Amino acid sequence: MITEFELMGTAAYLLSNGNMSMLIHIVNGKPLLLHCGSVISAADASAMCLRPNPGWGTTVLYKEGDTSSSLDIIPLIWSEENTGDYRENPVSIGIPADFTFRSGRIIDGLIPIESELPQADGASQSLELTFLSGTITLRIIYSVYETAICCRTVISSSTELVINRLMSSMLDLKGSFDITTLDGAWIREAHTNRIPVSYSRVVNESSTGFSSNRHNPGFLLSRPDATEFSGEVYGFNQIYSGNHYASAQISAQNFTRVMLGISPVSFPRSLNAGESFETPQAVISYSAEGFNGLSCAMHSFVNSHIVPEYWRFMERPVLYNSWEGCLFDFNESKLLSLASKAKKLGCELFVLDDGWFGARNSDTAGLGDYTVNKKKLPGGLEGLSSKLGRLGLKFGLWFEPEAVNPDSELYRAHPDWALHPFEGSDFYSRNELLLDLTRSDVRDYIVENVSSIIDSANVSYVKWDMNRHLPISGPKAHDYILGLYEVQRRIFKPRPSILLENCASGGNRFDLGMLCFGAQIWASDNTDPIERLDIQNGLSYLYPQSCWGSHVSASPHSQTLRTTPLSTDANAAFFGDFGLELELSHLLPVEEKEIKAAVEFYKGHRKTFQFGILSREETEPDAVCWLLSSEEESIAGLFHRLVHSAQGYEWLKLRGFEPSQIYRITSRPQNLRVGRFGGLVKYISPVDINPNGVALRTADRLYPMKDGAEDISCTGAALSAGIPLALKFMGTGYDANLRNQGDFGSNIYVIEKVTDK
Ligand code: GLA
Repeated sequence: MITEFELMGTAAYLLSNGNMSMLIHIVNGKPLLLHCGSVISAADASAMCLRPNPGWGTTVLYKEGDTSSSLDIIPLIWSEENTGDYRENPVSIGIPADFTFRSGRIIDGLIPIESELPQADGASQSLELTFLSGTITLRIIYSVYETAICCRTVISSSTELVINRLMSSMLDLKGSFDITTLDGAWIREAHTNRIPVSYSRVVNESSTGFSSNRHNPGFLLSRPDATEFSGEVYGFNQIYSGNHYASAQISAQNFTRVMLGISPVSFPRSLNAGESFETPQAVISYSAEGFNGLSCAMHSFVNSHIVPEYWRFMERPVLYNSWEGCLFDFNESKLLSLASKAKKLGCELFVLDDGWFGARNSDTAGLGDYTVNKKKLPGGLEGLSSKLGRLGLKFGLWFEPEAVNPDSELYRAHPDWALHPFEGSDFYSRNELLLDLTRSDVRDYIVENVSSIIDSANVSYVKWDMNRHLPISGPKAHDYILGLYEVQRRIFKPRPSILLENCASGGNRFDLGMLCFGAQIWASDNTDPIERLDIQNGLSYLYPQSCWGSHVSASPHSQTLRTTPLSTDANAAFFGDFGLELELSHLLPVEEKEIKAAVEFYKGHRKTFQFGILSREETEPDAVCWLLSSEEESIAGLFHRLVHSAQGYEWLKLRGFEPSQIYRITSRPQNLRVGRFGGLVKYISPVDINPNGVALRTADRLYPMKDGAEDISCTGAALSAGIPLALKFMGTGYDANLRNQGDFGSNIYVIEKVTDK
């Protein structure tokens, strides 16, 4: 809800939703931010007006004689160079500008973005504040959603103009903060880093052309004492997939200035007279209930206003993906044999990854030539798709439409379609160049090519990959992203039921821009569940778990050489859109049984796994506990990294349950491989067994051991105080109730209300 009213003789605007309020007061034509945070009402506004001040020594007065008018010391939502605010400014246009307020307009719903930039839909109301500086108009547009407020800016000019920098939003927040960013690299995406915001500026940016696996565009500002459960936390993100920039810095007067938008490396941009330039939407959210409260607000915003409408709260299929199992080496009969195994294990969708077209037998050739390789697939895609259909599986297909191998028919026919920033030399990554998506003929080609293949083969899922950084910066880098948005819009908007999973070497483009076109993103090429603890945990601060694919892969894992129990492979993959990605014909009977049970379990609790409200719970050091709650049930996953000896009790401490309600807590039944015990099998077996002998090897293949199970009833109060779990194996003997996990063990607990019949 947005209201306009008069405050001390000038206009004021109060923007509120269920979570937060922003109070903007126009003074001397400049927009002051009197409040941003907890929900307030217009009746509170006059108490929040800034008191007159006698001036701070060397400050520059904006209005002669008015000692309170220095822009350097007051909280603002916008500011320019040369007007006395010497903090970082959100705009630079190469000429002096002094934007002063002209008008405010409140409208129901959205003010649509005019470019290809995606926009969060379903805003209740929007506020457009217009400011003028000579011939230049600046509009700051806020849109209010249930749990977030979005902000963007638009500059237009009746004379020529060069924009060097234009942020989407700026806020001066009261007091000091820590900043948490999601940083990483390929196969180490989205690790959280929390540091204090100080007098030196902290910058979170990407310059690779994409939102990047180095620094996600989303970040959080929290009070220094905020925890997962308490304290003020602000969340920020951008609905954008290109080079991004955000900064935070505290001023001498104790305001933390935060701003975010397109990175200045994607500028300068020249505007002709009469043209305008619009930034992506910045997303701002707030919670006084710690990081978990903030995540809940952001998840709800993404689930309700970002992902394509068709897929909102729509359960995602359990898929089998051919990549880690086959790489480029497959033919139709191998795929069909995998498919029939996948079907028996409970999969619903078969995804054929890279290698199905042209001369694509390795990553050195064929990229760009989406003509089916008839040696591998003699019946074509149609043939494969209909055979999969007869098995009861849907068909999904991999493309990397933005890239091209120089060794391809496409490149030989159109060398000028690739981006060549340097004359005479190209810099390759994974042997590929990117196509110039700023060209309309290239965009038309991709749209027609991909659309016709999808339509011809009854494809119900597309994995859209992109495996290198952009070789250009400047305004063309932004135009490339607009080109990408146009291409995805033209292909997928007319085909809403196709599930699009974006991917960029895993999470190199994990952002709200891509989520507006595809409901999920492949979070990382790292499928090791222990590495996924950090990656999925980091993403969970700002993105709901239904947004990322998460697969069970073969152990030892190809990214780390780490060996993990199959139960943990599955338990970690449950927290996301679950799939299998391994060579199924190598599975032992015990593994087949366990995977089948895991798929069945996931399907039985799919709604909670994909759309339950997530919170990160308290654990002992080095463990991770995620709790998901839906109307019907809650599910907790408790994961360990390295085991520590003689550790004593561990407590399951889960918050948010009704104190006097009785709950039943049962662990997911899971198995242990006998072979994992080696010589320790003497603790289990009454007879002497050679750990290297045939008997143990046979038992290992056929007979799983049950891992200790829990079945506890207690009140919600006891659960939030913490209940002791069964002890772990510690060499003092075997007991079927022990949690025999060793390194990388984990358990899943289902928590249900006990109701009187
Ligand atoms: C990228 C993706 C992988 C897989 C390969 C295929 O690395 O992230 O999931 O699709 O490409 O070449």
